Formats: sequence, structure tokens, C-alpha cells
Amino acid sequence: MIIAVDGPAGSGKSTVAKLLAKKLGFLYIDTGAMYRALTLKALDNNIEINDSKAIAALASRTKIDLIPTSEGPVKVLLDNKDVSLAVREPRVTKFVSNVAKIAAVRKHMVVLQRKMGFSKDCVLDGRDIGTVVFPKAEKKFFVDADFEERVTRRYKDLINLKIEGVSRAQVAQDLKNRDTIDSTRKVAPLKKAQDAIYLDTTKLTIEQVLDLMLNYSIR
Ligand code: DC
Repeated sequence: MIIAVDGPAGSGKSTVAKLLAKKLGFLYIDTGAMYRALTLKALDNNIEINDSKAIAALASRTKIDLIPTSEGPVKVLLDNKDVSLAVREPRVTKFVSNVAKIAAVRKHMVVLQRKMGFSKDCVLDGRDIGTVVFPKAEKKFFVDADFEERVTRRYKDLINLKIEGVSRAQVAQDLKNRDTIDSTRKVAPLKKAQDAIYLDTTKLTIEQVLDLMLNYSIR
């Protein structure tokens, strides 16, 4: 069974998708981490982010693995190296939407995501899971929240990850840029699948969102 969880950054989708997977005993796949890992490699190799051809070529010679852990978040391996923390750095966050809008990169990632998804029951979170990667997913959610609430959540995440030197204003600006790029790109833009359940989490706790999702998922 495949459960697709899409939504904008800071909506809480990753947190609840992870918990939902744990409750159901499903594999959790954080597809955003894959785009982040490729962005990290491009930055570390001084590859021009807007050079679509170079980034697509880089994708084809890059190994990205997501390793589930019993405790805490999924481990992200980039060419066999653990980059779980590095993919959350602000420099990656700043450029990841530019990498994720490249058609050839998306094509490559979708193949990997389908391979992972077909191997086991899983919960995948991203932007295009219910619309493009698994349009026939058994359950689909679109998790959303007001902009200011999403900024607050992202800011708190960064503080918890002990990532320093980021202001709230910077987080807001970054979120706005990413919202625009993610939802206006030509290929697989962020949008709710017609048959997805829309969840506005602005005033809900994580537990309340999880309960709602569990109720829908075991129906
Ligand atoms: O969920 P996240 O913030 O880690 O995602 C990072 C970026 O990757 C985000 O700006 C959009 C992109 N992304 C995407 O285009 N498609 C996905 N399935 C997942 C993420």
C-alpha cells in the first residue's frame, strides 16, 4: 500500500508522514531529502545551479540512499556518505528548489522513488507524490498550513537542529521563494491531487493531524 503525503515546506507533512509510517509499520521515504542531497553535491563541487545539463549529468553519476532508522530521522547517504545533517543546511535549502525544477533531475528521482515505493508498503512525502510519482496511491493527503505558521515551524526546526545564523525573516523569505518556484515550475508543480484529502494543520497539534490521517488510512 502506498500513502502519498504532499504539501508545501513547513506544513508539518514530514513530521506526520514519519509518525504515520511508524504507526503503520510502513517504510518512510522523504523524497525532498533526495533533491537536497543532489543540491549539496552540486554546491560542494561548484557546479552552477542553473546549469540544467550539468546538474542532470551530476544526478546520473550520484548515488542517493535513504536508510530507515529505528530512532529519529531517516539517514541520507550521498555516494555512501552520511549527509543527513548537511542536507538541512540553509545553503542547501536556498538552492534546492532550483535543482528540483530541472525536468531531467525529476525524471531520475521519480524512477528511484518508484523503485523504493514498489518494494514495500510505504509513506512517501514530497510535492508530486499523489500527482506524478504514484497517481494511483491508495491514500493521498495534502497537508497545508497558513504561511506565518509554516515560517514559525521551519524556524523552530532549524533551532532544534542547532543550525545557527538564521533569522526568522530569512526563513520567511526563503519559504516564499520556494513556494513560488515549487508551485509555478513547468514539471510536476506542487498541487493537490484531485482525490487527495486536504488537511489544514494551522491550528492542529501533530497528534491531532496524525489521528486524522490514521483514521483515513485504515478506513
Ligand atoms: O520537503 P523539503 O523541504 O525537504 O523539499 C526540498 C525541496 O525539494 C523543495 O523545495 C521542493 C523539492 N521537492 C520536490 O520538488 N518534489 C518532491 N517530491 C520533494 C521535494
